[in-house]
Amino acid sequence: MRAYYFDNLPGDQRLPHDYVPSRPVPQEVLEKINVKHWQIPVEEYEPKVDAIAKERGYKNRDTINVSKDGLGDAYEEKIKNFFHEHMHEDEEIRYILSGTGFFDVREAKSDDWIRLAVEPGDMIVIPAGIYHRFTLDEANKIQALRLFQDEPKWTPHNRSQETDVNPYRIQYLSEIDVGA
Ligand SMILES: [Fe+2]
Repeated sequence: MRAYYFDNLPGDQRLPHDYVPSRPVPQEVLEKINVKHWQIPVEEYEPKVDAIAKERGYKNRDTINVSKDGLGDAYEEKIKNFFHEHMHEDEEIRYILSGTGFFDVREAKSDDWIRLAVEPGDMIVIPAGIYHRFTLDEANKIQALRLFQDEPKWTPHNRSQETDVNPYRIQYLSEIDVGA
């Protein structure tokens, strides 16, 4: 997984949006905003993903498949929805089985976008309360495991004054020592 600052230039969300020259984001910054990452080769992922799931209490999982070919006309609208900035009241946990995509996460307190370019073998945990969004890239296909604790709380809460005071948002900011 490559992590870098998003260039904020207009244009297709599926483009890399990498500064020239690129502004890589060091691992310490990801740790500071509580984004977790593991690299687990796809050929032997199951025992390792199972071990992380056990340790972190992820009891359930399913597989999601998103592709331009599979979705046809609904594809463009679907990826626009993924790209609305939002938060969840639960962790978002993904293990990439095939394909590629970009998770964008907001760095507190700068509010800069950090782009995480994921590929097969990447497992990431996006914490509850962090503002983020997702897009496929120009390859237009991804298959991923979604892991979750009990009942999945997929509800995206679009960023607003209301989410700024959501208890999960406040808790997240206090966990990373930033404060609302
Ligand atoms: Fe999300």
